[in-house]
Amino acid sequence: MLAELFAAAAHGCRDRSPLTQRLLTDAAEDLRQGGVTTRIMAGSERDREGSAPGLRFAGAVHRLVLEGRAPGLAKHYPSVGGQPNLPTLWEDALPVLEGHADVLRHRVHATVVQTNEPGRSAPLYGGLMVAAQEAAKAAHRHVPFCVRLLEVGASGGLNLRPHHVGYQLEDAVLGDPDSLLVLDPEWTGRPPADLGHRLRVVGRAGCDLNPVDVSTEDGRLHLSSFVWADQLVRWNRLRDALDLAATDPVRVDRAAGPEWLARQLGRAERDVLTVVWHSVVWQYVSPADRAMGRAVLADAAAKATPTTPLALLVFEPRRTDDDYRFELLLKLWPAGISLNLGHGAGHGTPFTWNVTPWE
Ligand SMILES: C[S@@+](CC[C@H](N)C(=O)[O-])C[C@H]1O[C@@H](n2cnc3c(N)ncnc32)[C@H](O)[C@@H]1O
Repeated sequence: MLAELFAAAAHGCRDRSPLTQRLLTDAAEDLRQGGVTTRIMAGSERDREGSAPGLRFAGAVHRLVLEGRAPGLAKHYPSVGGQPNLPTLWEDALPVLEGHADVLRHRVHATVVQTNEPGRSAPLYGGLMVAAQEAAKAAHRHVPFCVRLLEVGASGGLNLRPHHVGYQLEDAVLGDPDSLLVLDPEWTGRPPADLGHRLRVVGRAGCDLNPVDVSTEDGRLHLSSFVWADQLVRWNRLRDALDLAATDPVRVDRAAGPEWLARQLGRAERDVLTVVWHSVVWQYVSPADRAMGRAVLADAAAKATPTTPLALLVFEPRRTDDDYRFELLLKLWPAGISLNLGHGAGHGTPFTWNVTPWE
C-alpha cells in the first residue's frame, strides 16, 4: 500500500532530514484519509518500493518550492533560505498540494529519483592518483600516467572533473584550490600515493541510461529537487558543483553502460591510463548488462599493455551484517594489481584510506 511505502520512506529520512520525514509522515496519513495526496498519487497505487514513490512525491514538492511557485511553503525549506517549523508544515503544504495537484501528479509519474553526488569526487581523486602512479611504477616510469576517465552511470556528469575540484585537507589543498567547488574530504589516512604530483586528465566521457543535462535549468532543478532541503552541506556542494560544471561542460551520452564501454574501449591511447569508473550504479544494472559489462572489460584488460594500461575504479556499496559499507576498489592491467583502497560514507565523505587486497 502506498501509505505504508510513504511511512517507510519517512522512517528512512529519520535523523537525516526531519523536514522530509514530517512531510512524508503527514502525506502517508493523508493517503489513508483519501486526501489530496491520493489524487496526486493516482496511477501510482501499485508502484514498487524500489521506485521510491514517497521520494518522488517529496522531490516534486521540493521542485515547486525551488521554482518559486509555493511561497507559503518555502518558509520551511532551508534550500531557499527558510527555516522548518514542523508543527505547521502540513497546514502550509495543503494549499500548495491542492493548487498544484495536476503538476505534481505529472511530475511524480514522469520522473525517477536521480541524484549525482559531487562528494564522490574526493575518493575518485585519491583513487586516480593511486592508479596513475601504480601504473607508472609497473611500467618502470618516473612520471605518473595521464588519465582518460570513462564514467558509466554518470547522471549529470558532476564527477567528471575531479582535477578541477579543490580538496581541503588539514595542511594542504589538493586539486584546484581556486575551484568553485572545494570539498572537505574528511579523510582518515591518506591515499597511498605521492599527493604532490598533479593529476593530469586528458580525456573524459560519460554515459547514463537517463543522462541529466546540467547545462539546462530543467536538469539543474531535476538533480536539486532530490536533495533533501534541510541537508545544507549536501545542498551547497551540489550548487557549487553545478556552477563548476557550467564553466567546464562535459557531455553525458544516453547509452547503456556495456555497449558504450565497448565503443570507448575500442581505441586505446598510447601513454595514457584509461580508467573505467562507476559509483553507486552496480545495484541498478540488470544481470544481462552486468555479464556483458564484465565481458567487455575482460576483453579490454586482455589487450592492455604497459604503454596502454587500463584501470577499473569503483565506489560501490557492499552489504555488511547490519548495514552497507561503501568501498573504493581498484584493478590495474596489465600490472595485475587488485586493491581495496578503503571505505567511506555513501556520499563520498568522510572516507577512510586503508589498503587491503581486493579478493
Ligand atoms: C544513484 S545514481 C549515481 C550517479 C553517479 N554515479 C553518482 O555517483 O552520483 C545511478 C545512475 O546510474 C544510471 N544507470 C543505471 N543503470 C545503468 C546502465 N545499465 N547503464 C548506464 N547507466 C545506468 C542511472 O540512470 C543513474 O543516473
